[in-house]
Amino acid sequence: MQTCSDGAGTLASHRPFGETLDQINAELGSAYTYLAMAAYLEAANLQGSAKWMRRQAREEVSHAMKIFDFVNDCSGRVVLKAIPEPQGEFSSVVDIWESALKQEQAVSARIHSLYELAAQEKDYATQTMLQWFVAEQVEEEKTATTILEQVTRIGPSSSAIYFLDRHLGKEAEAKE
Ligand SMILES: [Fe+2]
Ligand SMILES: [Fe+2]
Repeated sequence: MQTCSDGAGTLASHRPFGETLDQINAELGSAYTYLAMAAYLEAANLQGSAKWMRRQAREEVSHAMKIFDFVNDCSGRVVLKAIPEPQGEFSSVVDIWESALKQEQAVSARIHSLYELAAQEKDYATQTMLQWFVAEQVEEEKTATTILEQVTRIGPSSSAIYFLDRHLGKEAEAKE
């Protein structure tokens, strides 16, 4: 049985369908990037920040699964594509958080253009599903901006970096 039909065809026949599948790939790409950041931070012995990144990677996988489930609920067929190799080297802690913020901003832009496309196509099911992501991206950008401001303000002082690292580790644990 085909569901999520609005009389104008099933989800799979809507124009945003391919872009919706691409968003699964983008979320998994985000997970991969955060995992690469976790690996870098663990090697730099910043275990708290690494824990924060590992948790973030899991969250991105859950975002991908939200869309995966949505497509299945609408009787669409999920087709997975290759995940690009993430950046593995960073010049500093500030560089990592700048990259994290840039990634979240890029994801927000993708979500917004996908939402616009769904609106143009009068695809109400996809629009409703994306509303959760629009709100989530506000949170994601706010969090990355706050941490970037903190690491920028403390500068290269190793004791301050250590203090913030412990704080991020505790924050990640509290959210488990
Ligand atoms: Fe995400
Ligand atoms: Fe995110």
